[in-house]
Amino acid sequence: MVILGIESSCDETAVALLETPNKLLSNFVASQNELHERFGGVVPELASRRHMEMIVPLLDSALNESGNKLKDLDGIAVTKAPGLIGALLVGLSFAKALSFVLKKPLVGVNHLEGHLNAAHLEHEDVPYPHIGLVVSGGHTSLYHVKDFGKYKLLGATRDDAAGEAFDKVAKLLGLGYPGGPIIDRIARDGNPKAFRFTRPKMNSGSSFEVGEFDFSFSGIKTAVMMEVKSSGGAPSPPARGDGGFVADMAASFQATVVDILCRQLIKACHAKKCATVVVSGGVAANSALRSRLHEVGEENKIKMFIPSLKFCTDNAAMIAYVGGRYLEAGKCDGMELAAVANQEIGI
Ligand code: KG4
Ligand code: ZN
Repeated sequence: MVILGIESSCDETAVALLETPNKLLSNFVASQNELHERFGGVVPELASRRHMEMIVPLLDSALNESGNKLKDLDGIAVTKAPGLIGALLVGLSFAKALSFVLKKPLVGVNHLEGHLNAAHLEHEDVPYPHIGLVVSGGHTSLYHVKDFGKYKLLGATRDDAAGEAFDKVAKLLGLGYPGGPIIDRIARDGNPKAFRFTRPKMNSGSSFEVGEFDFSFSGIKTAVMMEVKSSGGAPSPPARGDGGFVADMAASFQATVVDILCRQLIKACHAKKCATVVVSGGVAANSALRSRLHEVGEENKIKMFIPSLKFCTDNAAMIAYVGGRYLEAGKCDGMELAAVANQEIGI
């Protein structure tokens, strides 16, 4: 089947064409970073308007590159949740209109399920069961993945998502938006041991299980804020190779987040006796996280599946992959399919 994937849940408009199960025919992403940069975060109304401007040209590009016409499509997969409601509605309404006019089946895909399955775009066989970690701007969640479509949420962040913490800390340090990639770059010149942050204490073992696999990043963000205040306010970013306060703070913050993510991941692997891990979401593009994941994987004899950067951050290929699996299994949605702002999976 040739599946059209559409993603517009936040600030990336994305369109992909995929031949099932995982042959990518074309993959286009239009980032809105420059639009939201001056506001220091995503402005929902601007995001929706930009999705409306970009979605048709992106579809044209995706069709042209793959050499397909609209009539060649066998199905349409679209992100239905979670995300900014106005942004989701642009992709969903567009997908519904195409489905109606072309008389092709439509399927709604949960964005988190997309991230959890992004590794399948580059690997034929990702073993089950495995532990999945979605670590993005909106989510930091750990899952026990028993099979395709069978997810059990083990834990999630109790406050900020990891990507959100990266973005907020970057703001505190006077860096640009989105903060994750900037911190990643600046941290290379810093000392990750320059500042010590207290790790959140999650309940581990004992009779009280709640929180064992949860995350918390707001305390570290507050600690960064206190350090910035006591050093006299937002410092100017260092030039490459300068090191100094900002680089040391970025490196220390990043190392703490990486350490927390890896510890919880390994703990979940041991608890669920899983020797395979799949990591995805924007923060999985972080270079320090990627190299530490490979190290802890080797130390613990755990196979790590970490998608290429373009499949870690938001994209429509992962949506087309999941939608294709559902459409091939005969599952599709009707015109009543609704966009939902908050929707966890595996609860
Ligand atoms: O998955 P994603 O593209 O969108 C959401 O579903 O949220 O993730 C975006 C998040 C942002 O917070 C961004 O700062 C973060 O991923 N991010 C990174 C890196 N690249 C993107 N965080 C740390 N290091 C990176 N290299
Ligand atoms: Zn995402």
